[in-house]
Amino acid sequence: MITREEAFKLLKRYNKDPFHIQHALTVEAVMKWYAKELGYAEEAEYWGIVGLLHDIDFELYPEEHCLKAPELLREGGVGEDIIHAVCSHGYGITVGCGVTIDVEPIHEMEKVLFAADELTGLIWAAALMRPSRSTKDMELKSLKKKYKSKGFAAGCSREVIERGAEQLGWELNRLLEMTLQAMADSEDLISEEMSVVA
Ligand SMILES: [Fe+2]
Repeated sequence: MITREEAFKLLKRYNKDPFHIQHALTVEAVMKWYAKELGYAEEAEYWGIVGLLHDIDFELYPEEHCLKAPELLREGGVGEDIIHAVCSHGYGITVGCGVTIDVEPIHEMEKVLFAADELTGLIWAAALMRPSRSTKDMELKSLKKKYKSKGFAAGCSREVIERGAEQLGWELNRLLEMTLQAMADSEDLISEEMSVVA
């Protein structure tokens, strides 16, 4: 299996925008948090690498998101299991070039990625509106309010997030609460990592 260091190097080969790097690091941390929380602690690094690489093709090939990824990942020596997981986070989504991604999330790890990815974007947008610009003092109640407000972070699809919760067999509230906790717990580490990247 590819190491975390190799995966990060590969990510940075195709992603230069700090916003994209930060999103990758966030999803990595959230995936590791979930692995530990859901009884997959010994696979936490692996879950994290999937999170780190999940949007690898988005910066350069946004119209072919999840379609270009297998090529980039194979070139980077990434295994087919990770490639499957990466592609499955687009399941049922029609990308810019008109293709609907048909790779279904099977493993619980893949379902968590699908559900949490879009939500981290919404939670981070909510954090940036706070005086603290942080998730650490964000209450679930205020997140729920933002979530329900259609005009807020309209680019973060509630339909995708809710489909994600459904695929996991979770109540939406559980997904919101756990993902917020995961982000709050890892925020300091991510800003530290970002200060090194920048
Ligand atoms: Fe993403």
